[in-house]
Amino acid sequence: KECQSKAVGSRLLYFLHQFFPRTHLNSIPGPLSLPLLGNMLELADNHLPNHLTALASRYGKIYRLKCGNSTMVVLNSADVIREALVKKWSDFAGRPQSYTGDVVSGRGCSISLGDYSEEWRAHRRLVHGALQRSCQGSLHEVIQKQALHLNQVLLDYNGRAVDLSEDFTVAASNVITTLAFGKEYEKSSPELQRLHGCLNEIVSLWGSPWISALDSFPLLRILPNLPFKRLLKEVARRDDIIRTHINEYKMQAPSEPSEDAIYITGRLLHGLKQRRDPSEGVVLNEMHVHMATVDLLIGGTETTAAWLSWTVAFLLHRPEVQCRVYDELCMVLEGRYPQYSDRHKLPVLCAVINEILRLRPVAPLAVPHRAIRDSSLAGYFIPKNTIIIPNLFGAHHDPEVWKDPYAFKPERFLECGDASTRALMPFGGGARLCLGEAVANMELFLFTAYLLRDFQFVLPEGQTSLPDLEGVASVVLKVKGYKVTARPRPGNVHVE
Ligand code: HEM
Repeated sequence: KECQSKAVGSRLLYFLHQFFPRTHLNSIPGPLSLPLLGNMLELADNHLPNHLTALASRYGKIYRLKCGNSTMVVLNSADVIREALVKKWSDFAGRPQSYTGDVVSGRGCSISLGDYSEEWRAHRRLVHGALQRSCQGSLHEVIQKQALHLNQVLLDYNGRAVDLSEDFTVAASNVITTLAFGKEYEKSSPELQRLHGCLNEIVSLWGSPWISALDSFPLLRILPNLPFKRLLKEVARRDDIIRTHINEYKMQAPSEPSEDAIYITGRLLHGLKQRRDPSEGVVLNEMHVHMATVDLLIGGTETTAAWLSWTVAFLLHRPEVQCRVYDELCMVLEGRYPQYSDRHKLPVLCAVINEILRLRPVAPLAVPHRAIRDSSLAGYFIPKNTIIIPNLFGAHHDPEVWKDPYAFKPERFLECGDASTRALMPFGGGARLCLGEAVANMELFLFTAYLLRDFQFVLPEGQTSLPDLEGVASVVLKVKGYKVTARPRPGNVHVE
C-alpha cells in the first residue's frame, strides 16, 4: 500500500512538473550565493570548465549561479544544450551586452559578441557566404600549403626537443590571413608578433576580474583603472593593424571588388556594395568587414593551434594510437599526401580527431548566450535576459552518455560510430554555431594527417614525464607548455 501511494505521489509530481513549469529562476538548483558577490568566488576557479562540471555532479544538468546582480544558467548535458542552442535557437541566440564588451566588439559590430538582430543576421550571412565560397575554392590548397610548410619547420628542428605551440599558431594564423587578405608570415615576422600580441592581450585583459568588475559594478567606472586603460590601448592598436590590412588590400585589388574575388575581404567589400540600397532594410558598412576580420582571426587562430597541441600531447600518452594512425595512413595513401576527401577511408584518424574534440573542446564554455525572450529549458522557466552558459566540456564528460568519460579512448568512436558523434558538440549549434566549423574540420584533418604521415612524436631523450593533460582554461582551453621531439618517418618527408 505504501509503495502504491508513493508511486501515485511521484506520478502526480511528474504531471504537475509537466503542466506547470517552475516559474522563477530560484527554482533551478544551484549553490548558495553570497550577498552582493553571488557566486563570483566560485567563478574565479582557475579551471572553470572543470569546476562547473564538478558542480553538475552535485546540482544536475542545469543549475544557476549568481554573478553580481545577474543570474547565469549553466547547461551541462548534450540534450539540454541542444534544447537551448538548436531546438529553441530563436529564444537563446542573443549575447549578453556589457560596457566592456561594447569596447572590444567595435560597438556591437562583431559577429561573435554582437547581439541577435536583423543587422547581425545580415552580417553573419554575408561572412558565412564568403567563407563558404573559400571552402569550395582555395581553402584546401591554402591548408595543404601551410601543412607542408609546418612539416618543413619541424624537419628543420633536426630532432631537437621543442615546444611546438607557436609553430601551430603561425600555421593556423596563416590559413586565416591568406583567406582574409592573401598574406602569410614567418614566425619571426614583427608584423605577426604585433598582431598576435595585441589580440591575445585583448582576450586576456577582457577576461581579467579588474575589467569584468566594471560590468557588474558600474560605480567602479569612475575610478582610475589601469588594466582597462591598457585594454583601450590594445583595441586601438588592433583596429590600426586591421585598418592597414584592409586599406592595403583595397590599394592592390581592382577598384571594383567582384563576387569572384579570391580573398574574403574582397568578397565582403563586394557584398557591402551590393547592400548599399537602403530598401534592403539593413545597411552594413566597412566596420562590419573590419570586425569580421577580427572575428576570423581570433576565432580561427588560437582554437586550431590549441587543438593541435592537445593532439600531440594525448598521442604521447598513448604511442600505440599514433602507430595505428600511421599504419592506416600508409595503407590507404600508399605514400601520397592526403586530400580532405580521403577522410572516409581513414576511420582511425577521424576517431582520434573526435576523441580530442570531445576531451578538450577548445572553446569549453562556448560563448555565453542570452535569452532574448521568456522561454524554458529542461522544464524550468527562463526569463528574458538570462545568461546561458553551454558547458560543452561538461557535456563531453557526462557519465550518462560517455563510458569512462575522462579516458582518452578514440576506439569508442570506432565501436559506436554515429551514435556517439551525435553527442559531440565542440562547435556549439544552431544560430550561433561556430562560423568557422567547415574551415576548422578541414584544418584539423589535413594538419593532423600531414604531421602524423611525416613524423613520429616522442618524448625528448632522457625525459620520462608526460605532458600534463589538465590544461589552462580561459576562453580557449590550452595544454600547459611541453617539449616534444618530432622524429621524421624514413622516406616520407617532403622538402619544400
Ligand atoms: C564561435 C568552437 C575554429 C570562428 C565558436 C563557438 C564554439 C567554437 C564552441 C561558440 C558557439 C556558441 O556561441 O554557441 C570552435 C572550435 C574550433 C573553432 C572547437 C576549432 C577546433 C574556428 C575557426 C574560425 C572560427 C577556424 C574562423 C575561421 C568562429 C566565430 C564564432 C565562433 C566567428 C562566433 C559565431 C557567432 O557568434 O555567431 N567556435 N571554433 N572558429 N567561431 Fe569557432
